[in-house]
Amino acid sequence: MSLKVADFFAGGGGLSLGFQQAGFNMVCAVENWQPALAVYRANFLEHPAISIDLSNEFEALRLLDEFKPDVVVGGPPCQDFSSAGKRDEAGGRASLTINYANVISNYRPIFFVMENVARAANSKAYRVALDIFKRANYGLTIRLLDAAHCGAPQTRKRLFVIGQLGGRDGFLDNSLASGLSDQPMTLRQYFKNCLPFDHYYRHPRSYARRAVFSIDEPSPTIRGVNRPIPKGYLGHAGDPVPIGPNMRSLTTQERALIQTFPLDFQLPGSKSDVEQVIGNAVPVKLAEYVARRLISYIQALDNQGELLMPCQLFESKSKTATKYFASIP
Ligand SMILES: C[S@@+](CC[C@H](N)C(=O)[O-])C[C@H]1O[C@@H](n2cnc3c(N)ncnc32)[C@H](O)[C@@H]1O
Repeated sequence: MSLKVADFFAGGGGLSLGFQQAGFNMVCAVENWQPALAVYRANFLEHPAISIDLSNEFEALRLLDEFKPDVVVGGPPCQDFSSAGKRDEAGGRASLTINYANVISNYRPIFFVMENVARAANSKAYRVALDIFKRANYGLTIRLLDAAHCGAPQTRKRLFVIGQLGGRDGFLDNSLASGLSDQPMTLRQYFKNCLPFDHYYRHPRSYARRAVFSIDEPSPTIRGVNRPIPKGYLGHAGDPVPIGPNMRSLTTQERALIQTFPLDFQLPGSKSDVEQVIGNAVPVKLAEYVARRLISYIQALDNQGELLMPCQLFESKSKTATKYFASIP
């Protein structure tokens, strides 16, 4: 069975590609930033990438009614989640998380996936979203996953909320936990002997942190900006080797490969836009890890004849209601 999937806030398509590689049938993607749409459209020719502002819940629902996906996946943007969770009341981008929850609870796909940065869990918008999902009768699996334990050579922790309509809480917990690798994947393990260097420069957020990394460890999180080594970089006590004449920062293409995009993935656009699209993406292998676990769960339900489509769930609900009304004297 091949379930139909829509990807909201699709960016350049990291989440889409992972779901597609796991065997889901992508039917549409939605995004409103043109540079990200250009990357998405260059790589996914079989389904449309549509430009819609997803704060418009009515438009989002209209689109879902048109494409009728069984599963909706999405990573509402994370810029406005402060760790103290203060800024999300200000109507910033974190409210897109609530828009997403409202759309899911109105459309009611049999499964949904919501991906966020780890600190989203501390925000009010996130808690409101969980409450919306629960009131819409979703069983929820909530898990923080590190890409480095899911087949990607990068430390990148992301929070996944996976919902099953009419399911039980924690339905995917065991499955998600059981496939993780014990050790984080290093760049050398992923690229074998193809990398032309042993160490590279990654510009730190602050000079209190090291900037040199070895290929015998996972890469730090790939961010949306990529800087060359500044002239006069003084080094850091944590750098495993000093900056030498052959040391350099990663290229755009290398960063895309560390995000586990395939070698033939097209990256049209300006360098700064493409770097941002790459940095925003869910690593393809992380998305694929989640998607494969979900697909196995769905197949097991289907084999047991227990995969209820939404109409069946509404039917069983209305039967209960009929019984209830029939019992009133
Ligand atoms: C974290 S990125 C998603 C990355 C994507 N899931 C991937 O794996 O490549 C969030 C995306 O949401 C998009 N976005 C932000 N606000 C939006 C809005 N109001 N409507 C639609 N898309 C929006 C951003 O342009 C960005 O590409």
